[in-house]
Amino acid sequence: MYLYTWLSSLLLSHIYGGERAEYVTFQLGRHSYVNKGPVAFGILPSNAVDSLGDTIGGIGSAVTVKRGSWFVTSNGSFAGTFITHPDSGPHGNLKDGYQTRQHEIDFVLNPYEGSKNLDYSEALKTLTLSYQRTQAERSGPQWDTTPTSSDPALPLVSSADPRLTLDTESIVEDVDGTYWLGDEYGPHVYHFNSSGHRIGVIQPPRAYVPLNSAGDIEFVSDANPVTGRMEGQGFEGLTMDHETRVLYAMLQSALVQDGGADKDGKESDTTSRHTRIIAYGVGGESPELKGEWVVPLPRSASKGKTRASSEILFCGDGTFLSLSRDGDGEGGNGEKSSYKQIDLFSVNGATNIAGSKYDDPSHPVAPGGKLVDDVVPAEYTSFVDMIDKKSLKKLGLHNGSPDDETLIASRWEGLAIAPVCDAENQDDYFVFAIADNNFSTTDGIIGGVPYNQGLDVDSQFLR
Ligand SMILES: *[C@@H]1O[C@H](CO)[C@@H](O)[C@H](O)[C@H]1NC(C)=O
Ligand SMILES: *[C@@H]1O[C@H](CO)[C@@H](O)[C@H](O)[C@H]1NC(C)=O
Ligand SMILES: *[C@@H]1O[C@H](CO)[C@@H](O)[C@H](O)[C@H]1NC(C)=O
Repeated sequence: MYLYTWLSSLLLSHIYGGERAEYVTFQLGRHSYVNKGPVAFGILPSNAVDSLGDTIGGIGSAVTVKRGSWFVTSNGSFAGTFITHPDSGPHGNLKDGYQTRQHEIDFVLNPYEGSKNLDYSEALKTLTLSYQRTQAERSGPQWDTTPTSSDPALPLVSSADPRLTLDTESIVEDVDGTYWLGDEYGPHVYHFNSSGHRIGVIQPPRAYVPLNSAGDIEFVSDANPVTGRMEGQGFEGLTMDHETRVLYAMLQSALVQDGGADKDGKESDTTSRHTRIIAYGVGGESPELKGEWVVPLPRSASKGKTRASSEILFCGDGTFLSLSRDGDGEGGNGEKSSYKQIDLFSVNGATNIAGSKYDDPSHPVAPGGKLVDDVVPAEYTSFVDMIDKKSLKKLGLHNGSPDDETLIASRWEGLAIAPVCDAENQDDYFVFAIADNNFSTTDGIIGGVPYNQGLDVDSQFLR
């Protein structure tokens, strides 16, 4: 059994002459963007095993192209290495997370630009993947992630087992070879060196951290706090401007107090669109808060449900890509997806609320989901439609019934970018989107214990 793990599409920022008539241009602020359509598709088998002996799963959660790995081959194809990072593992919660780790996966990309539709097996040749190695985030037999006295309060397995526990949803490689992980339990941004040792952590303002009714920090993964990040809706998005070394972390959807939850503390997807993105300069001695803005996520036309964001990617001048989607598709809730897009937003005209009263949980920026009058949100626009029928067909894929291996995956959660390296199209980039398969396989193994999630692969058996 296979799960779709990769889709690549082409993005051109800024326009110039010569582009084909069918390309649609999107304008945002000072720039124009053109989607040139999908060019490649590949998969990693759902029962692939890493060098620690565990099933490789959840790798779409966080991905980046390893710096310096990307090159044009002598025959004109492209090659490079993805660094991918699973989330909390197949049994994901605070207590039962698995050993955090990152995988390196080499790829060869042969972009398909023909007009004929490929069948599925032909499409798989456009992006081939080969697993290379895994680095655990630890040293020796113990996790090397146990908090120290200089750390803020951090989520632990339990008071009897005071090891740090992570739910990693995003990854950035810094210019010095260290890397930053966006996490969902905090929500925190953790800093690791290249050999997998934790060397720092950024805790966002008090408005973000989960507080209980006594106003104390309490990290829980199976309930919503009174204020702060929603359960499972932390820093899904993390990206970096490598020139200025500014990190940007974005919440999957609104904080509890900003409309994430209703009055009873239950998730409210009709009021949760006003999420926040926060920026830290990390080029100095210690991270410095640089900015914070409200981003209005898209909503479904019928019920006004928030299309939460699973990843962001910096693309210059205050502008970002955002991977926004529903939960349908292969391995998801239903077969037919109605929204899977890589959209664009810009914070250039938005109000910077960093250090303002909105960093205090008693001052929501969007009470009940309604944005306060004195805050201008980011400008947001639709961009790449990943479930566009013609685009899917070109690569042998489809949306909706039947639920077979050519059904578009449900949980797209990772984005990565690489230049096309074409002298005539210097502003062209490839954008990779990667799905998180939630470790769904009928042939899995974790910690030496086999597992079979076959009957749990939600949509496949919930028609
Ligand atoms: C181009 O070269 C790479 C190795 O550098 C190889 O994997 C790939 O299959 C080649 N592509 C074609 C179209 O021959
Ligand atoms: C990472 O940090 C650990 C612990 O401080 C140190 O022993 C190791 O040498 C560092 N690795 C690199 C590549 O800097
Ligand atoms: C992922 O798999 C776990 C374990 O089978 C399950 O409890 C959870 O609901 C799944 N998550 C989603 C989003 O389907």
